[in-house]
Amino acid sequence: MPLNILSTRLEKTKLSGLYRILRSIDRTTPLITVDASKALLFCSNNYLGLAEHPALSKAAAEAALHSGTSSAASRLVSGNQPLHELLETKIARWKGTESALAFNSGYAANTGVISALAGRGDIIFSDRLNHASIIDGAILSGAKLVRYPHCDTKALENLLEKNLTPGLRLIVTDGVFSMDGDIAPLKELAELAEQHKALLMVDDAHAGGVLGKEGRGTVDLFNVADRVDIQMGTLGKAMGSFGAYTACSSLVRNYLINNARSLIFSTSLPPSVLAASCAAIDLVRSSEGDRLRSQLEENGQLLRHLLQEANLAAPDGITPIIPLLIGDADKTLRFSTRLLEEGIFVQGIRPPTVPVGTSRLRCTVMATHTEDQIRLAADAMIKISKNMGGR
Ligand SMILES: Cc1ncc(COP(=O)(O)O)c(C=O)c1O
Repeated sequence: MPLNILSTRLEKTKLSGLYRILRSIDRTTPLITVDASKALLFCSNNYLGLAEHPALSKAAAEAALHSGTSSAASRLVSGNQPLHELLETKIARWKGTESALAFNSGYAANTGVISALAGRGDIIFSDRLNHASIIDGAILSGAKLVRYPHCDTKALENLLEKNLTPGLRLIVTDGVFSMDGDIAPLKELAELAEQHKALLMVDDAHAGGVLGKEGRGTVDLFNVADRVDIQMGTLGKAMGSFGAYTACSSLVRNYLINNARSLIFSTSLPPSVLAASCAAIDLVRSSEGDRLRSQLEENGQLLRHLLQEANLAAPDGITPIIPLLIGDADKTLRFSTRLLEEGIFVQGIRPPTVPVGTSRLRCTVMATHTEDQIRLAADAMIKISKNMGGR
């Protein structure tokens, strides 16, 4: 029976400690309900608190009332509305690029863009810790995939020298690595891309709204905006809305409109989402955006400091992502369950999301956390770590 095959596979997943369940979460504010119990949320990507900001909710509600609830077709059929173009104009102005193109999600952007840019005969150089959607895009493309050790530009240089093709070469990296919270060496990557005549694509899913002037991301932080061919960003994390985009030249935009299958063959974003994204861009560029970013950074430093003071292995950094490496998948799950019993919700991250042996608690802070909430979370992590015999 085919279904028996699936249940045997699921049993195997359970035995290996990698079984996943969906928890029910009622909202994205610091204080939430998880499976009917109150808890403090420390694993959301709602870094700036915009997912429940009244300006975004109002924009979404007005757009739904004015323009309906669906675009009801792909952009190339009858689903291209003025709000799509307004959003893209705003993104291009914000990022300082010639143009921009909206996608339905970060996953759709990475799979669509990478498989459109590269194909058989081309080579994709991808950081070993890049997001799954980048890997999936590379696999879908049919190009040769060369994975280089995490942030190791020397190794990448060697691989660029060895892997030649008359076709296209694409270097692709996360700007902020989603499970580690560290930042790619973009200056060196831009130099390598120029020297070796490769295109450079940066996935700034976790940096948009958070890092750089007006939240323009890692590309702005390293001042390499004019040296990165494709900036990809998401609108469902710090931006508090939904969807994604590429900020790029008009040539790349036109190329993607003609080749990116996740854009061509999928119903486009609805008016409410587009309007919320427009409001989010205005907000992250305003003085309120500056205030939220500095609060976010302060909150991140406080949690890091409290954990490090208690000898927990929280790495230094400037992003809101603070991983606590545990190693064993089962132990990570038990740690996360114990934390929830203490009223702190931090999801355990296990393979295949992270490499085997590097399971972790991926803690994230938000600008909307109070100091007391951060101290409560740190105290709970320290207590449980001691009870479980350290890391
Ligand atoms: C680095 C990175 N890229 C892309 C994505 C996918 O974005 P989305 O959630 O909008 O599909 C994520 C989100 O999980 C991510 O962390």
